[in-house]
Amino acid sequence: MKEKLDFIPNDLVSLKDYERYAKERMDLNSLAYVCSGAGDEITFRRNEEAFSNIFLETNTLEDLGGANTKIELFGETYSSPIFLAPVAYQKLVDFDGEIATAQAANAMNTCMCVSSFSSSTLEDISNTTSSPLWFQLYIQADMNTNIKLIRKAENLGFKALVITIDAPISGLRNTEQRAGFYLPNEICAINIENINPMQTTNNFENILDIAKILPTWKDIEFIKNNTNLSVILKGITSVSYAKKAVELGIDAIVVSNHAGRTLDTLPASIEILPKIANEIKGKIPILFDGGIKRGTDVIKAIALGASAVMIGRPIMYGLATAGALGVAHTLKILKEELEVSMIFTGCKNIEELKKLELTFNNNYQLH
Ligand SMILES: Cc1cc2nc3c(=O)[nH]c(=O)nc-3n(C[C@H](O)[C@H](O)[C@H](O)COP(=O)(O)O)c2cc1C
Repeated sequence: MKEKLDFIPNDLVSLKDYERYAKERMDLNSLAYVCSGAGDEITFRRNEEAFSNIFLETNTLEDLGGANTKIELFGETYSSPIFLAPVAYQKLVDFDGEIATAQAANAMNTCMCVSSFSSSTLEDISNTTSSPLWFQLYIQADMNTNIKLIRKAENLGFKALVITIDAPISGLRNTEQRAGFYLPNEICAINIENINPMQTTNNFENILDIAKILPTWKDIEFIKNNTNLSVILKGITSVSYAKKAVELGIDAIVVSNHAGRTLDTLPASIEILPKIANEIKGKIPILFDGGIKRGTDVIKAIALGASAVMIGRPIMYGLATAGALGVAHTLKILKEELEVSMIFTGCKNIEELKKLELTFNNNYQLH
């Protein structure tokens, strides 16, 4: 295993380079956790591949005065539409874990969504960054535990509550199972006292017994009525669930297939996005994640209906390669790629990206 970097070498210029560098610096246990998807990893691979079937256009004589990447969400201004997705147990790949990510978020003025399964405390994270923080909730069987966590996030000034609905149980990740993945003793979901065990392991006993205590729409309604935070549902892969979210007064959704880590053979996230966006018609903002590696991917997601995007695995690759520096540099690369691509496509702000015409590969249909 190679040493973590404290500088950025010349050949580290893209998120794919980070992936390569990170894989040389992660132990086999962390590698199996981060670089795995469910089952045959069809969805995991397709998330990224699908972007290569979508093509952009250039418009290079536009007046780009006042160009910027700002967006407004829930009355807040965010400096860029690229956010950090909730990723569990970041100390697996870096001694400082989420604290290093929060330092990077602070340096790059980026919104960070903190996982329920963060290996650092919410207090320490919020003391580290003055950039906006969101809290991601995996609904726990004991509603008091959920409410306690939500109150803590509210009191610490978190701006939104992201409820992840697509992982009531852990996906069957064979790569992890083969590697015998385990959480080292010093790493745990430090913010939760009684964690739902079925969310943390993919070795189940009595799976269908577990099913009866899993969250339902009633829990979503209860939580929505018991917080003053904006509520975002993450893990929407169907039009019907997107419509239901709107009906319940949910503030935003995240179109996401959890990086292909839950149910294998879901379509790529970017293939799901347009049909949901066509149905929602701007009634609530849609966030997007899954496979984003390039500024051009960010543009494609926005042109297909996303208000903002999140990156997940690239956080772990940045951390594993160079800690906080690596995550900050990852964000810098992606934002600069977005800015360069905005100039080529002739769009001076994120709103204009929404009107871009895309072309699809001959045999490729999104909707
Ligand atoms: C190692 C790992 C851990 C994750 N942990 C969480 C989590 O705790 N909560 C959650 O809602 N999503 C979690 N996700 C999913 C991400 O939030 C996000 O949906 C996904 O990683 C986006 O795809 P990308 O990795 O291709 O950017 C995790 C993803 C990975 C790769």
